[in-house]
Amino acid sequence: MLTLGIESSCDETSCAVLRNQDELLSNIVSSSLFKHKAFGGVVPEIASRHALEQIDTVLQEALDTAKVSLDQIDLIAVTHGPGLIGSLFVGVSFAKALAFQMKKPLVGVNHLEAHLSANFIGPEEPDQYVGLLVSGGHSCLTYHERGQIALLGETVDDAVGEAFDKVAKLLGLGYPGGPIIEKMAKEGDAKKFSFTYPKQSQRFGFSFSGIKTAVRLLVEKEVHSPQSTDHSEQLVKIVDRGPSTVDSKFIRDISASFQSTAVSWLVKKTMDAAEFKNVKDVVVGGGVSANQYLKEKLETAGQAQGIQVWFPPRALTIDNAGMIARRGWDLYQKGFRSSMNLTGVPNLVLAV
Ligand code: KG4
Ligand code: ZN
Repeated sequence: MLTLGIESSCDETSCAVLRNQDELLSNIVSSSLFKHKAFGGVVPEIASRHALEQIDTVLQEALDTAKVSLDQIDLIAVTHGPGLIGSLFVGVSFAKALAFQMKKPLVGVNHLEAHLSANFIGPEEPDQYVGLLVSGGHSCLTYHERGQIALLGETVDDAVGEAFDKVAKLLGLGYPGGPIIEKMAKEGDAKKFSFTYPKQSQRFGFSFSGIKTAVRLLVEKEVHSPQSTDHSEQLVKIVDRGPSTVDSKFIRDISASFQSTAVSWLVKKTMDAAEFKNVKDVVVGGGVSANQYLKEKLETAGQAQGIQVWFPPRALTIDNAGMIARRGWDLYQKGFRSSMNLTGVPNLVLAV
C-alpha cells in the first residue's frame, strides 16, 4: 500500500511516499526558513505563499524519487492542524483536490501526533508508552495505550522550542534559536548561571517563560542598558568580536546554562511520568528532539530507570511529510476516513 503524505502547517512544504508503514520511498522538504530569517521568526503570509508556490514541484519530486506515479497512490494523508491557517489551507486544499480527482481515500492528520509517529517508520510502535512532544509551538507529555492517547500535562506558557528561539533572539543569535544555542552551549559553562525551578500546580506540566525572562535580565545587566528590551544588535557586535572575548564567553555560558536547565526540567518531568505510568518506553518527537544534549540526558536517565528512550532519525525531527504519511497509514488501518469537509484547524488538539 502506498501513502502520499502532505505537510504544510508552518514554514516547511513537504510531500512523501510511504510503502506500507515501514518503507519511506521519498520525503521531500522545501523550507521557507531563509525567507523568514530577516524577520526573526516565521511570517505567516510568507510561509503560506511559499507553500502555494512550491507544493506542485515538491509533489512531483516526491513521486519521481519514489519512482511511482500518482495513480499508484492508495491513500492521501494531510496535516490539518495545528499550525498557521494559510499554510494549512494550502496543504488541505491540495490534498482534497487530489483525493477528489483520483477517487482515493483521504485522512486528516494531527501534526503533533505525527511527530511521535516519526519514530515508527520501521520499528513497531510499543503498546504502551509516554510521549514527550517538544516543538516550537508545543511541549507536552502524553500517555499512549494501544492507540489511545491521554494528555498528562503541557506547558502553561511558552513551548520549549519557543524558549530556545526567544533566548537566541535576546542573545542576537538569529532564528531558529535551537540549533545555534546548542552549538554555543558546547563551549559554554553550564554551571555559570542558575535559574529558579518554576512553581507549578500541574505535576506533568512545564513552564518556560520564567527562564526566558531571567535570561533577558542577565542580558540587560551585561549590556548595561536596563531600559531596552532587545539587545540583539549590541550582542551581535559582541559575537562578531570572536570567540576569545569575554563577552562572547557570556553568550556561550548563558546558552549552556539555559540549555542544561531547560533540558533538566524536561528530563525530570518525563522520567516522573514514565514512573507514574509504569511504562518501559518513552517516545520523543518535535523539532527540539534534534537536540543531542537532550538525547544524551534522556537516554542516560532512561538507562538508570530501565526505560528505552526513542528519538526519531534526525531527518525526521523537522516538519516533514514522512511522519504525516506514517500517522495517516495508522489512522486508515483503524478505519478513519476524512470527508471533503476536511479543513485546516489552527488550534487542533490531540485526539484524547
Ligand atoms: O517541530 P518544529 O519543526 O516546528 C513546530 O511544529 O513547531 O520545531 C521547531 C522548533 C524551533 O523552536 C527550533 O528552535 C527547535 O524546534 N529546534 C531545536 C533544535 N533544532 C530545532 N531546539 C533545540 N535544539 C535543536 N538542535
Ligand atoms: Zn512540528
